[in-house]
Amino acid sequence: MALPASLVLVGAGKMGGAMLEGWLALGLPPAAVTALDPAPSDEMKALAAARGFALNPPAGTVAPPETLVLAVKPQMLDAAAPSIAPLVGPGTLIVSVMAGKTIADIKARLPASAVVRAMPNTPAAVGRGVAALVAGPGVSSAQRDVATALLGAVGRVEWLDDEALIDAVTAVSGSGPAYVFLLAETLAKAGEAAGLPAGLSARLARATVEGAGELLFRAADVAPSRLRENVTSPAGTTAAALAVLMAGDGLQPLMTRAVAAAKRRAEELSG
Ligand SMILES: NC(=O)c1ccc[n+]([C@@H]2O[C@H](COP(=O)([O-])OP(=O)(O)OC[C@H]3O[C@@H](n4cnc5c(N)ncnc54)[C@H](OP(=O)(O)O)[C@@H]3O)[C@@H](O)[C@H]2O)c1
Repeated sequence: MALPASLVLVGAGKMGGAMLEGWLALGLPPAAVTALDPAPSDEMKALAAARGFALNPPAGTVAPPETLVLAVKPQMLDAAAPSIAPLVGPGTLIVSVMAGKTIADIKARLPASAVVRAMPNTPAAVGRGVAALVAGPGVSSAQRDVATALLGAVGRVEWLDDEALIDAVTAVSGSGPAYVFLLAETLAKAGEAAGLPAGLSARLARATVEGAGELLFRAADVAPSRLRENVTSPAGTTAAALAVLMAGDGLQPLMTRAVAAAKRRAEELSG
């Protein structure tokens, strides 16, 4: 595991905090970590006190680390850049999880020679995220290993060769958890329409999405289509529903349009 010898986390919010917990759980020594955040949550303050990493040490006392992880909101980058710049040394790898900020955007604002851009997603908070990573020029293979370890602490990692793919990744896995939550909502409403009490239908739908996700997770080498076929008897009830969902105007064209809309929006936001 290629965890860095020294790490500064800039932005200890939801995503930064989830990653930090993952790194500590993997064995990154707290003494190697400095977290910077102008208004850390009570949970972050308690974590720093319990684990012993530095949280907001006095300005000027933090040396440029081996790796600096940027997890502020993208709209905060311009304001934060002047205070981050002194933390970027000639050998510092920057790993950014900021949505919509390109490697060129980061290099234009920080004296960085090596930048890895990552697009994680919210299941990272429970260690079940998936992140797509792309390395800018000048990132060594040892630095790629560090980035893999850091994002791998909270889920799976996929490397991209082309930064342009990040907008499509954002549309599939970045925004994707919301589509699955919507599936639970729409299934619950459909259950109500079929005569179930609202609370019961919501509980059934939620547990179904949770359980199906877990089955998918455990059967990692089985295609989703195979899992679907395994629970579909010919001419049975599931088949009747799937005939509607898989019709020409069913879920596939809808999902394709939804992902295209998210991709267009990601392009607009990063343009
Ligand atoms: N959450 C996700 O699922 C997800 C997925 C993909 C990518 N991302 C990316 O992850 C990044 C963080 O998102 P998030 O959801 O974790 O947001 P968040 O909870 O708001 O975390 C950002 C943190 O950075 C802090 N901050 C602001 N200015 C700072 C500065 N100058 N120096 C240090 N810290 C500063 C914020 O403090 P204040 O609250 O005081 O401003 C906040 O605690 C974003 O760029 C987002 O695009 C998130």
